[in-house]
Amino acid sequence: EEETLARIEKLRAQAQLGGGHTRIETQHKKGKLTARERVELLLDSDSFNEYDTFVEHQCTDFGMDKNKVIGDGVVTGHGTINGRRVFVFSQDFTAFGGSLSKMHARKICKIMDKAMLVGAPVIGLNDSGGARIQEGVDSLAGYAEIFQRNVLSSGVVPQISLIMGPCAGGAVYSPALTDFTFMVRDTSYLFVTGPDVVKAVTNEDVTQEELGGANAHTVKSGVAHAAFENDIEAIQRIRDFTDFLPLSNREQAPRRYSDDSTDREDQSLNHIIPVDSTKAYDMREIISRLIDDGHFFEIMPDYAKNIVIGFARMAGKTVSIVGNQPLVSSGVLDINSSVKAARFVRFCDAFNIPIITLVDVPGFLPGTAQEHNGIIRHGAKLLYAYAEATVPKITIITRKAYGGAYDVMSSKHLRGDMNYSWPTGEIAVMGAKGAVEIIFRHVQDRTQSEHEYIDKFANPIPAAQRGFIDDIILPCVTRKRIIEDLAVLARKKLPEIYKKHDNCPL
Ligand code: COA
Repeated sequence: EEETLARIEKLRAQAQLGGGHTRIETQHKKGKLTARERVELLLDSDSFNEYDTFVEHQCTDFGMDKNKVIGDGVVTGHGTINGRRVFVFSQDFTAFGGSLSKMHARKICKIMDKAMLVGAPVIGLNDSGGARIQEGVDSLAGYAEIFQRNVLSSGVVPQISLIMGPCAGGAVYSPALTDFTFMVRDTSYLFVTGPDVVKAVTNEDVTQEELGGANAHTVKSGVAHAAFENDIEAIQRIRDFTDFLPLSNREQAPRRYSDDSTDREDQSLNHIIPVDSTKAYDMREIISRLIDDGHFFEIMPDYAKNIVIGFARMAGKTVSIVGNQPLVSSGVLDINSSVKAARFVRFCDAFNIPIITLVDVPGFLPGTAQEHNGIIRHGAKLLYAYAEATVPKITIITRKAYGGAYDVMSSKHLRGDMNYSWPTGEIAVMGAKGAVEIIFRHVQDRTQSEHEYIDKFANPIPAAQRGFIDDIILPCVTRKRIIEDLAVLARKKLPEIYKKHDNCPL
């Protein structure tokens, strides 16, 4: 019996080393931590409970029966982040390049099933050479088993992917199905086909970094939601991020009280909107003055910057913020910003996170590029997402709310719960100049008509007279108002209509 115990301990110790000292060294030399070091950093100390430490692959082809690594290239289990349960898998590049075998996939599926069963987030740390080539269709089957669980878990438990090394081929679709994908700069990349295949098929010369590095996906493709400098920073930020989220769709996000007073009035907000309504200002400045301690976790900060989205807290409660950004293209809505915000709104609605919308939007972006690429279809996603959302929705028009974009941006008509305008609000079909050029096209001197139009629409009064906004408030009291409204709306409940599922435009 002692012998067995000794053997078990020996195996356990061996498992700690994954692919062995030399490969661990190589991993460190690349500036990367090992799978286990990452898990240790991610979870509260001593909270990790590992599953399937002893699992090995069952492949016998290509001499694999003599080539086994305990754990089979992935570390799985659960632990806590700031005391709250999460499930985690961490691929071990030192074992078969972290490649995915049948057993490796089975380990991941086991923790995904457990997370669904108890209602806890799944965090995947990806660092893998893809499908285990020696296992053929068994590894492809493994991916599909994971994809199926990603889909069934969607909207039930938060799913977060952190890409910390290669992630190529079929492997990319699991992160793509999860709610958030984060990357580490210089050491991680995602692509469906690598540079060699690209060269062979399209004759393009491109490096891994250009094709699928952090920059490519956080700036150009919108595949990833943020990038971090290195493993340590990335993992710290994921801990911070996870703390904004509820454990499942059955729960509320945790309350994290702060010293920031709930009735703090910020007088500087009263002067933040430029007198000249064509001048830009930074919506992030307004956001940081409204939220607790200015602590904002921005999602996709480098993509479609004409809209700002992210998580914050107010009176300790998680809120999501969506704000048009006048600093970039006047905050216009286009394809990328619509899709960016739509998926975010849908996440927040699925996970009981109230949505605060800050509106300063001159409309949708005109042009053939937008029209031919489907701004109608893509803009509809954001409209759909807001209209469908049943979480508390609070909207503040800071300046422009023009045209169809007024409707889209969480207007009263889309079941907005509380809709406010600052005195600087301008709610109209379009800006004065354009409007007058159309309705007074035959008049020579349109200055007079333009002034008339401005008088009539460049203020929030007509919308207030119709009850489309609930009140016109001074900017300085906005924080207080939102916090009061969140308390009122905390018990909001809308009846659900039975559907198999909706048919959101895609
Ligand atoms: N299946 C089986 N083993 C794999 C593997 C895979 N998909 N990917 C990597 N490995 C193994 C390598 O054979 C190597 O083993 P060895 O050290 O015993 O020779 C080990 O993992 C490390 O890989 P290596 O290529 O030395 O690392 P690298 O950092 O130089 O390159 C990759 C990493 C991912 C670019 C490279 O391994 C690669 O191209 N892998 C194949 C990717 C692929 O096409 N996958 C299938 C598509 S789903």
